[in-house]
Amino acid sequence: MNDDLGIRDRFDSMGLPPPMEDITELVHDLVDLAVGYSPRSFGDVDPPEVVARMYRGEPPDHPLDREQILEFVRSLIPNFPSTSDPHFMAYVPSHPTWLSRALASLTPYFNQFVGTVQGSPAGTAVESLVIRWVADLLTFPRSSFGCFTSGGSMANMTAIYTGMVHTLGRNGVDFFADGLRGARPVFYLSDQTHNSVVKSLLMLGVGKRSVKIVPSDADFRLTAAAVRREVDGDIAAGNLPLMVVATIGTTNTGAIDDIDGLRELCDEHGMWLHVDGAYGAFSLLSTESSLKSVPSDSIALDCHKWLYTPFEAGIALVRDHEVMRRAFDISAEYLRDTELGEDIELQRNFRSYGLPLTREMRGLKVWGVFAELGVQGLHHAISRDILKARYLTALLRRDDRFELVGRSELSIVCFRYRGTDPENRRIIDMLNSSTPFFLSSTILRGREVLRVCFINRGSDLGTVDRFFSELDRVVSSLEEA
Ligand SMILES: Cc1ncc(COP(=O)(O)O)c(C=O)c1O
Repeated sequence: MNDDLGIRDRFDSMGLPPPMEDITELVHDLVDLAVGYSPRSFGDVDPPEVVARMYRGEPPDHPLDREQILEFVRSLIPNFPSTSDPHFMAYVPSHPTWLSRALASLTPYFNQFVGTVQGSPAGTAVESLVIRWVADLLTFPRSSFGCFTSGGSMANMTAIYTGMVHTLGRNGVDFFADGLRGARPVFYLSDQTHNSVVKSLLMLGVGKRSVKIVPSDADFRLTAAAVRREVDGDIAAGNLPLMVVATIGTTNTGAIDDIDGLRELCDEHGMWLHVDGAYGAFSLLSTESSLKSVPSDSIALDCHKWLYTPFEAGIALVRDHEVMRRAFDISAEYLRDTELGEDIELQRNFRSYGLPLTREMRGLKVWGVFAELGVQGLHHAISRDILKARYLTALLRRDDRFELVGRSELSIVCFRYRGTDPENRRIIDMLNSSTPFFLSSTILRGREVLRVCFINRGSDLGTVDRFFSELDRVVSSLEEA
C-alpha cells in the first residue's frame, strides 16, 4: 500500500532539467568573452533608457541552450562601460589587476563559507593573512583585526558601529540593552565626509541632531581646532562627544584631514577616532605620500579603489580586535558547533567580526594583487598615480586660464576654468562627448569644478599631456565661439 501520501509520485513527476552538456566548453567560451572584453568608455554605450528597453520580458520557462546563453552575455557587453579605461578619470575609478580578476571570477567555483573557521579553514586563513598584511602596511598594531566588506560604505558602517558600542560602554551606556536611549552622543564629521558615513549613522539609529557637520578649512581638511570648538560647546551643553570621523583622501579633492591633531583631541576626551580611508589610505604605501601612519581606532578601506582589486573588496579594520569581537560576537544556538575554544590569531570566526554570516570569500582576489604586483609594485603604481596628478597640477598652474581648487595631496586634481559655472559645465560636457576622456564634476564652495582622479596603472604622463591638449582645444573653441 502506498502510505507516503502521494509524495513519491509528486516527487518523481518533478523532473529536473538534465545537467548542462559541454559545461567546460561553455565556461571556456564565457572566459573568452570576459578576457576579450576591452574597456569601453562611458561615452560609447547606449543611453540607459535604450538599454533598459532591451531587457524586458518574463524569465525563461525552460533552460536556455548554450548558444542562447552566450548570445545573452554577448548582448550585454557593448553596454558595459568600464572604469578601467585609462581615459576614465571620473569618480574613483577601479582598475583591477589581471590576477585579482581571475581569482575573483574563480572564487564562486570554490564557494567557500568564510563565516566560520570550520566552514572554510583555508578561506578564513587567507582572509586573515591579507587583513594582517594590510594592517601592517598601514601601521596598525598586531592587536588589530577586521573583516572584508562589500566596499567602503559597509566598512564605514561596520567600524562606526564597533566604535559606537565600545565608546558608549566606556561612558556607562549599555548599547545592547538600551540603544541610544538616554545617551546624548555627538558624532563629528566634516562637510567633505563621504555620504556613506551619514547613511551609516542613520542606519545605526543616530539621528541628524547627533551629527555635527564641521566646516572644513581652505584646503577642505577637517582640523582639530574646528572640532575642538564644537566639542567644548557640546560638553558645556551636557552632550557626550563620542566619535570623530576623519578622512584620508576625501572624495571631492583627495584632502587628508588633520589626523594627528584629531587623535590628540580624541584622546583628551575619550572619543573614538574613525578614519574613512576608502580612497586614500593605501597612499601610505607610496613614498610620494605625506602620510606616514594612521593612528586611528578604526579605518574603512576599499581595495577596489587604490589597491587595484575588482569590485567588492572593502575592509573594516579595528585597532583592538577584542573591541570588534565584543561588538559582533552575538551567538545563536544553531552556531554552537562553530564556537572556537581559543581566539588565536589567524583562526577567528569572521561571523564574530562583522554583520554577515554568509558572504563570498574576498581575500583571495586581494591576495592576487599582492601576488601580481608585490608591495614594491604597489608602491610604484600608487606613486605613479600621485605623480600624474602632480604633473597635471603643474600644467594647470602654468596656464592662467585655469585655477586649482583645493590642494592635490593624492591623485585627485580639482580645477576650474576662470569663467562662469555654465562655461565650466560646458567644458566638462565637451570633454566627455568629443574626446576619449571622461571626467566628473563636483561643487566646491558653491562653484562648479572639474575633477580628475588618477588610479589607473594604464595611464602615464603622456596620457596627462593628451588630456591637457584636449582641454586646451575645448577651452580655445569655447573662447572663440
Ligand atoms: C572616501 C570614500 N568613502 C567611502 C566610499 C564608499 O565606498 P563604496 O562605494 O565602496 O561603498 C567612497 C566611494 O567613492 C569614498 O570615496
